[in-house]
Amino acid sequence: MTLLCPLDAVEDFAAKGFEVVLGGETQSIFIVRRGSKIYAYRNSCPHLGVPLEWTKDRFLSIDGRFIQCSMHGALFRVQDGLCLMGPCEKQALKPVLVEVYNGEIHLTPQPSDPGQSSPKPSNSR
Ligand code: FES
Repeated sequence: MTLLCPLDAVEDFAAKGFEVVLGGETQSIFIVRRGSKIYAYRNSCPHLGVPLEWTKDRFLSIDGRFIQCSMHGALFRVQDGLCLMGPCEKQALKPVLVEVYNGEIHLTPQPSDPGQSSPKPSNSR
């Protein structure tokens, strides 16, 4: 497992981006916190493949209920990444496996990724 950050580093109903190595390539991912649960996805909109956030760590709609793409406003359900409204409706974000352990959020081995390395906080936008 690879440490992403302490659970306390992400406020409830907030999100945080990271750069990690998945499949031998640096990938942008983000996590969303809902209480003690963490959901994680690749930072790539199914519509055009662009990053979702409008500024650093801002992946959510104003009310915090949905993940929102900054490009065309698509709304995604936090729990499974399904697009509920927008140009990529019924498509979904690609999930990333994470685990909360001892108050820390860890990237766990992905089914298709034998190699991982240390994450860096995302500085994009
Ligand atoms: S690029 Fe995300 S909704 Fe169009």
